[in-house]
Amino acid sequence: MATAVRDTLCFAGSEEADEAVRGTCEDASICKRFAVSIGYWKDPYIQYFVRQAKERKAPEINRGYYARVHGVSQLLKAFLKETECNCQIINLGAGLDTMFWRLKDENLLPKKYFEVDFPMIVARKIYNIKSKPPLSKPIMESHSGESFLIDAHSLDSSRYAILAADLREAAELEEKLKKFNMDTQLPTLLIAECVLVYMTPEQSASLLKWAANTFQTAMVINYEQVNMADRFGQIMIENLQRRQCSLAGVEACKSLDSQRERLLLNGWETANAIDMMKVYSYLPQADVKRIEGLEFLDEKELLEQLMQHYCICWATKDSCNLGLSNITF
Ligand SMILES: C[S@@+](CC[C@H](N)C(=O)[O-])C[C@H]1O[C@@H](n2cnc3c(N)ncnc32)[C@H](O)[C@@H]1O
Repeated sequence: MATAVRDTLCFAGSEEADEAVRGTCEDASICKRFAVSIGYWKDPYIQYFVRQAKERKAPEINRGYYARVHGVSQLLKAFLKETECNCQIINLGAGLDTMFWRLKDENLLPKKYFEVDFPMIVARKIYNIKSKPPLSKPIMESHSGESFLIDAHSLDSSRYAILAADLREAAELEEKLKKFNMDTQLPTLLIAECVLVYMTPEQSASLLKWAANTFQTAMVINYEQVNMADRFGQIMIENLQRRQCSLAGVEACKSLDSQRERLLLNGWETANAIDMMKVYSYLPQADVKRIEGLEFLDEKELLEQLMQHYCICWATKDSCNLGLSNITF
């Protein structure tokens, strides 16, 4: 179980803590790459960001990642549909995520796609983009005009930007995004996939409040732990504490209600939260049949317990009445 949750746990509150948090982005992408390599979903780009895992990942981990990637992508696509791609997406703590490239292939790019992470992660991502044509070509193809900027810690083109910022410093984050032409009037989707849990509840609350105050028409998607106060959640925490790790944001992950409440208390008009077992149960039957045929799963109970300890939450603010509050699975 420790490996299942490693990408979500860390030391709290120091440079050492931040280093552990940065390590989680590699873990998440290695798990995604492994699941892709055995056919759970298609992602031709992840191979350019991380190596193949040395060991097999357990089937329950692969199914968990399938539900995570599918769940986030389904909500994101619903947002693109409601806004007819006349919007921007800001992926907070994007790590080595490949969504920009996959959306480009599907002809579903928003007006601009922003990614934010710590400087070290951003530098690594830019290095990969610069050195691998399958990553740089789509950015160049979608670029128009002259204002292309690239240095070690930022890249700005017409449709894609990546920048280094600390998500716990909203003012600095806003300033950097504005420098890269973030438009606060445009419908905006913010994504935090396994990110808020690394911040204290105060820090995640202020990030969510900043987002709700900055954009009039917006949606936020948050994927992370839930039900952490029960026995299984406690075991997850204890296992990591034994390795000197603790979850800075676990307080907000007590229940689906505490997840919803954080969103509503910080300026969002509607808020939803469902656990990943529910997301799994909403998958089309044909998908379930296909992915369950990929690997034999012995530990059904462990899969269920794991899935009940992660959730997807989404919240909206809809001053333009685009119908964002209707978005659901
Ligand atoms: C578990 S990884 C998830 C990466 C990506 N969202 C995914 O799901 O594949 C968490 C990411 O959040 C980033 N992160 C966490 N706290 C951050 C902060 N305060 N400022 C910037 N990035 C942060 C980490 O560096 C890491 O890339």
